Amino acid sequence: MKRQSLYLSNETAIITGAGNGIGKALAFEIAAEGANVFLVDSEAQKLGDTVSELKAKGYPANAGVIDLSLADSAQQVFRQAHAAFGPIHMVVHSASPPRREADTWRTVTSDTWDAMYHVNVKSGFELARLVGQHMIDEGITGRMVYLTSLHAHTPRNLPHYATSKAAMLMLVKEMAKAWARHGIRINALTPGAIAAGGFKPAGDLALKIPMQRLGSAQDVAAMGLTLLIDRFSGYVTGTEVVVDGGLSVFNWFDPVQ
Ligand SMILES: NC(=O)c1ccc[n+]([C@@H]2O[C@H](COP(=O)([O-])OP(=O)(O)OC[C@H]3O[C@@H](n4cnc5c(N)ncnc54)[C@H](O)[C@@H]3O)[C@@H](O)[C@H]2O)c1
Repeated sequence: MKRQSLYLSNETAIITGAGNGIGKALAFEIAAEGANVFLVDSEAQKLGDTVSELKAKGYPANAGVIDLSLADSAQQVFRQAHAAFGPIHMVVHSASPPRREADTWRTVTSDTWDAMYHVNVKSGFELARLVGQHMIDEGITGRMVYLTSLHAHTPRNLPHYATSKAAMLMLVKEMAKAWARHGIRINALTPGAIAAGGFKPAGDLALKIPMQRLGSAQDVAAMGLTLLIDRFSGYVTGTEVVVDGGLSVFNWFDPVQ
């Protein structure tokens, strides 16, 4: 039977990190299912380009250039999104500062450490708390997706990044437990090696992936959309969905194919 309506009609999503990569791909997926999208990024040019591309397709999009490493930035996100579109039904938190290989345990600066934690964990928490309370007050059965990493479980040689992603995973579980009785779901979405902008693959990495290719932003966005649609994930909360082509089951005993 032909589907008559889109899955996310008359709803609004906030998407952080929407100027690039996975956040941008998710903005297009969500908008294509009928939702208004409010995009957040610290990079004005990339954000403006994304909004223009969405509008060119006829999708309702608005945006705020907001640096999530600064105090009160989550409050700004909520205020601006609500002013633009009214009630909020979904949050995707994809923003994360650049992962630089030079930022090892020896060299990472205090400012770099703080920015990573502020964007990923503190703003992530404050945005979740504000929007979660709003959803409870308005009786909205909302959904949230937070981008974590395989390095929430395994070291990355970037201690500020890996530990912040581990913290995000527990944040997801905390909020899922607190909100489940209100019908609000939140899950972690864990990309593997995704050639999406923020990750620069080196060497023969693709050969270590059982599916023998790097992932795309689209691969991750499709699963993110699934986690936002009750029809497909209505009984899924507080968990982590890994999109990695099998990378996390790579066995170092195996010869590289
Ligand atoms: N690409 C991968 O292979 C991969 C793997 C594991 C996890 N992830 C996670 O997925 C998410 C998206 O990854 P990506 O590769 O698309 O990243 P990306 O670097 O392409 O995009 C991240 C976006 O966040 C924005 N941003 C950075 N600092 C910000 C700040 N202070 N305030 C607001 N916006 C800010 C950037 O401008 C950028 O547009 C991230 O959370 C990342 O940690 C990605």
